Amino acid sequence: MTQTSAAANQTLTWIPKASEIAREAGARLREFFAEGVATEYKGDVDLVTVADRTVEKLIRMRLGEVFPDHGIYGEEGTRERLEREFRWYVDPLDGTTNFAHTFPQFCVSMGLEQRGEGLTENEDGALVAGVIYDPMRDELFAAERGKGATLNGKGIAVSKTAVLAEALVATGFPSRKRHQNPNIHFYHEITLRSHGVRRAGSAALDLAYVAAGRLEGFWEFNLNPWDTAAGILLVEEAGGRVTDFAGGKFRLNSEETLVSNGLIHDELVGIFRDLFAGRNLAPLPSPEEFAAMRAEREIKAKGLE
Ligand code: IPD
Ligand code: CA
Ligand code: CA
Repeated sequence: MTQTSAAANQTLTWIPKASEIAREAGARLREFFAEGVATEYKGDVDLVTVADRTVEKLIRMRLGEVFPDHGIYGEEGTRERLEREFRWYVDPLDGTTNFAHTFPQFCVSMGLEQRGEGLTENEDGALVAGVIYDPMRDELFAAERGKGATLNGKGIAVSKTAVLAEALVATGFPSRKRHQNPNIHFYHEITLRSHGVRRAGSAALDLAYVAAGRLEGFWEFNLNPWDTAAGILLVEEAGGRVTDFAGGKFRLNSEETLVSNGLIHDELVGIFRDLFAGRNLAPLPSPEEFAAMRAEREIKAKGLE
């Protein structure tokens, strides 16, 4: 660790210990990745592996050691001390489908919420710390409320790109209830109005990339608190904006996540508004129409020979 980052760490309350845990968890994921793991199905195409479960256990144990008063809410079923003021949302492996296919884009995500007294389960507290670790690139993204966001100890900020037409953005598609999800329409529309839309398969890394200025924006339907808690704080601390699809307050259980560098946010909200109202949509040929046009072109070309 450099002297400057050591000094910066002294002012941080949770990040140094949480970073150590995320790095240890990430190292374990790297080992599983190298060995190869069998895949099981939790749902339709919702995959899980021994790596998800083992690493959640490891994180649960380590968090219990260093923050014995904190609660833990993990994707693979951990529910501990949820009545406490502080609660970690843990995704031990965000990007399981990638991991299972040896596509090297996945991470560990741990976000800390501070819950005031008397909150019901449906009410959010304040996100106060977040760590996202990409073990394949050895990139550790971290943030504490009011103290900025970092990548491997150096400050990061959202990009300054001011218009969607010059932006690179990202999205994801749910693995549950796939047939009820309209996101392909959003994907199409925003692809036509930007430099492109990536679907890299790890929502937490997508959020971290917005914080780091590698992407201008990201949206997804139906994410869970363990996917978003750390990344949302990272984006906010890096100077970005976080809302639901209507530009309203983001909620951990809102099932709508829209983040950006702030500058293209209103434009994205406008497109979402239009899409939900069926307005201003770019026409898209159906595969059948496309095949007919292609056949017509072939006939014309033959006629010219
Ligand atoms: C998934 C990833 C993916 C997103 C899915 C999530 P998991 O998390 O974040 O990018 O599109 O909605 O469920 O299942 O790999 O932890
Ligand atoms: Ca996840
Ligand atoms: Ca996961």
